[in-house]
Amino acid sequence: MYVNDRPADHPGMRIDPERDRVTYGGRVVRPPDVCTYILMNKPRGFVVTVDDPQGRRTVMDLIDGVEARVYPVGRLDMDTGGLLILTDDGDLAHRLMHPRFGVEKTYLAEVRGRPTDGALDQLAKGVHLEDGPAAPARVRRRNPSAIEVTIHEGRNRQVRRMCEVVGHPVQTLERVAFGPLVGSGLDRGKWRHLESNEVKALKQAVDLGGGV
Ligand code: URA
Repeated sequence: MYVNDRPADHPGMRIDPERDRVTYGGRVVRPPDVCTYILMNKPRGFVVTVDDPQGRRTVMDLIDGVEARVYPVGRLDMDTGGLLILTDDGDLAHRLMHPRFGVEKTYLAEVRGRPTDGALDQLAKGVHLEDGPAAPARVRRRNPSAIEVTIHEGRNRQVRRMCEVVGHPVQTLERVAFGPLVGSGLDRGKWRHLESNEVKALKQAVDLGGGV
């Protein structure tokens, strides 16, 4: 193990987790608790940003008592509810959003009308959007007017636009899974720290090894 490129060769050596660079086997290791991981059940009507120049309510208004400078991982539309991760772990946040890692997100969409099997097939095969084709999606009917759509891209208003293309505009949209995290057990507008096994699962999903 090395601390700031020097061998850590005496027991009881003190490390400042904020400043010191610790490596083991050539890889940077981080002690637990350095980063903060939050899961929120986002309500509709809140902007997903740290600071809104227009002064609207943001998801940060829902969090208190957290000293770490967490920020939201990716975007949800103001009118979309459901699972939102906030963290100050830049590496994890970057990977969770990067298309290379293809992290799946599942949305429950209540749509106008009753989509036929044909419409669901179209969504599953990948519809054409104005900024290029949407990758194939996993689609499951939940009731005559509600479908679950799983995608691994994160384009702007993607699910809304996909549903629009097949003639069934979204009426309400909710993210119900983010990678390995399915559901939150949280009331609307509430948040909690992620359990260490949840952080581990997220890291494993993006090749960060799952160490905390
Ligand atoms: N797709 C959308 O259309 N909106 C979201 O907020 C997330 C995915």
